[in-house]
Amino acid sequence: MKSVLCTLIVIFFLHSNITAQVDWDNPKNLKILKKEELRANMRAFSFSLGVRCYYCHDDSKGRKLSEIDFSSDVKPTKQIARTMIKMSNSINKDFISEVRKIDENAISVACNTCHRGATEPKHITQILSEEYSNGGVEQSISRFDELREIYYARGTYDFSENTLNWFGYDLLGKEKYADAINIFQKNIELFPKSGNVYDSMGEAFMKNGDKNKAIEYYEKSLELNPQNKNAVDMLKKLREEN
Ligand code: HEC
Ligand code: HEC
Repeated sequence: MKSVLCTLIVIFFLHSNITAQVDWDNPKNLKILKKEELRANMRAFSFSLGVRCYYCHDDSKGRKLSEIDFSSDVKPTKQIARTMIKMSNSINKDFISEVRKIDENAISVACNTCHRGATEPKHITQILSEEYSNGGVEQSISRFDELREIYYARGTYDFSENTLNWFGYDLLGKEKYADAINIFQKNIELFPKSGNVYDSMGEAFMKNGDKNKAIEYYEKSLELNPQNKNAVDMLKKLREEN
């Protein structure tokens, strides 16, 4: 209870600090938003993109709130943000409204719908694939670790076993067997109790022509998840071939 109260006090001071140092009542350069909407929108923008105010606002005199020139349009990100406001408004007004009458319960598209705490709203599998094309499997793994370090539990990216499992299967489909094995190995390290990640590794070894390893991993998968019918079938097949 005490710590909740402390947190509330800290949030209150942080909030009143921003409120006090920014002149919300005399905007000089609003092209889209109304004065009354300004404060809530600026907080939502910062939160949705995971950035501070100076990401979009002129900080040539310094990054303290009192030093930032909020009216200035020098930062390209501020211009992009204006385009994004227009885009979001149009999506809601012209399209979402056709699906459901816009009322207080309507689901509307906002910055966070796409951005979820990142400036570039990319899916993590897209990031991993790009790193793979640029620098191979090691580069995707180190980027994955980096993102996990920064964004874990923030909801920006999916760090469940599904992500590396998807990426490993993508590589398997491209016949990059050794790289897929590397990715599944990483998934096993992160999720050692999941029967599914061992099953994927079994398939990768099978495709790579390593039957003994395939049997080993399918057995492990079955041990962790006795319901895994695929592992039963694969083991039967692999043993018949032996
Ligand atoms: C993602 C970009 C972005 C972020 C982050 C952002 N803003 Fe803004 N801000 C804008 C845009 C765009 C406008 C202009 C809106 C318009 O033209 O209607 C604006 C306008 C303003 C204005 C009005 C300036 C004037 O004189 O017209 C103030 C004040 C302001 N922002 C404060 C803040 C504060 C404080 C923060 C941090 C809590 C912040 N903004 C974060 C994009 C951003
Ligand atoms: C429908 C999805 C979607 C919504 C909603 C959306 N954005 Fe974006 N945003 C994007 C995409 C996609 C890009 C990347 C464009 C590019 O650079 O190729 C982007 C890029 C940006 C950038 C540039 C980032 C950079 O560093 O290059 C800013 C700033 C931004 N958005 C702000 C906003 C704000 C503010 C809102 C809410 C008013 C918003 N976005 C709503 C999809 C969206």
